[in-house]
Amino acid sequence: MSSLLNGKHILLGVSGGIAAYKAADVCSKLVKHGADVHVIMTENAQNFITTQTFEALCHHRTLTDTFDRTNPAEVEHIARAEEADLVLIAPATANIIGKLANGIADDMLSTSMLAVTCPKLIAPAMNTHMWMNPAVQANVARLREWGWTVIEPASGHLACGTTGAGKLPEPEILVQHVLHTIACPKDMCGMKVLVTAGPTCEDLDPVRFLSNRSSGKMGFQIAAAASSRGAEVLLISGPTALDTPIGVKRIDIRSAREMYDAVTSHSDQQDIIIKAAAVADFRPANVSEDKIKKSSGAMKQEAPVIPLERTDDILGHLGSHKKEGQFLCGFSMETQNLIENSRKKLEKKHLDLVAANNVKIAGAGFQGDTNVLTLISRNSETELPLLSKWDAANALLDEILRLRH
Ligand code: CTP
Repeated sequence: MSSLLNGKHILLGVSGGIAAYKAADVCSKLVKHGADVHVIMTENAQNFITTQTFEALCHHRTLTDTFDRTNPAEVEHIARAEEADLVLIAPATANIIGKLANGIADDMLSTSMLAVTCPKLIAPAMNTHMWMNPAVQANVARLREWGWTVIEPASGHLACGTTGAGKLPEPEILVQHVLHTIACPKDMCGMKVLVTAGPTCEDLDPVRFLSNRSSGKMGFQIAAAASSRGAEVLLISGPTALDTPIGVKRIDIRSAREMYDAVTSHSDQQDIIIKAAAVADFRPANVSEDKIKKSSGAMKQEAPVIPLERTDDILGHLGSHKKEGQFLCGFSMETQNLIENSRKKLEKKHLDLVAANNVKIAGAGFQGDTNVLTLISRNSETELPLLSKWDAANALLDEILRLRH
């Protein structure tokens, strides 16, 4: 449950493909985020799933017939189209895509779509050869030109028995597209934001490395939130298991040195840089090309000593080469004297803001889905409560926008 879509009216269009059953889950998830969902089904969709399924989930009559006079006071297809904040058609068959790309209005769904003025998302799902057919591709290109956001079908084993592109993406991904489009105010349009996330791995030999427990979740949520708020986001990430947030450009790196190179070659163009990554401070001084054996070289002794050397402080470098008007936000991870040590980092690295977290507090720090941050600037100190990493990311961005004014 969340309130991310509270007060938002969503029109969910369902056309007749086998993936129609997944639309029920999409509907349920949107309702759980607080949306008021109305469903329009084509006649063919009713061969795969019933109108009652959606009615039970969104508590509104499912709309199927333009000439249904159950509510004579309203012209239903116009009323629903006018109140909608977003339209999502999932799954979209080749047939409904063809109708929309040619202005055909011969049923409730295609007729309503001519009347909507809000953002429109469409998720095609069909057999790979149908999807690749030039007629379908031309229709999809035309919808894009007319402002539709086309959610590309996934690849995999299809219900028709073939393998390839054409699968409806999982309901959670479709919901992420909806959230990306309407859950946030677009108050970062025109801003370029660089976010770093995740751990770095410092190799000792081809099988061993030094790293840390960062999952990358905080940095990925910051990138997702900034992108949803309209910013152009570049995410530079250490090894993580996380999916790239919608709309975000991503560069994967492994070591502190690679992160340094990637960040410094893109930093000049950025308006805001947020360094959420947990960068190694030290790396093995020597990297062996072959696996180090217990019985040889550095490992000869009972307990070998591994010589380390300092990595570059990327944030320190950015602070001393800051572009005019650029905003620099660092993270500070401490287990004691959080505020005092974080203030020292703010001064020493010439930062505009530090997001400080004490990893010893319950619900803060690595791997979890929540965090407890204190936002420290030269003249302010804001202690945030325990928040989901999504809410913490948005609170951090709010503070950055406040301080930039
Ligand atoms: N950082 C960096 N390059 C490094 C080390 C840290 O850019 N080689 C950045 C981190 O991404 C973070 C900030 O510096 O935004 C602070 O990291 P933290 O590990 O808390 O502090 P350090 O500066 O490494 O200092 P210490 O280890 O003494 O706490």
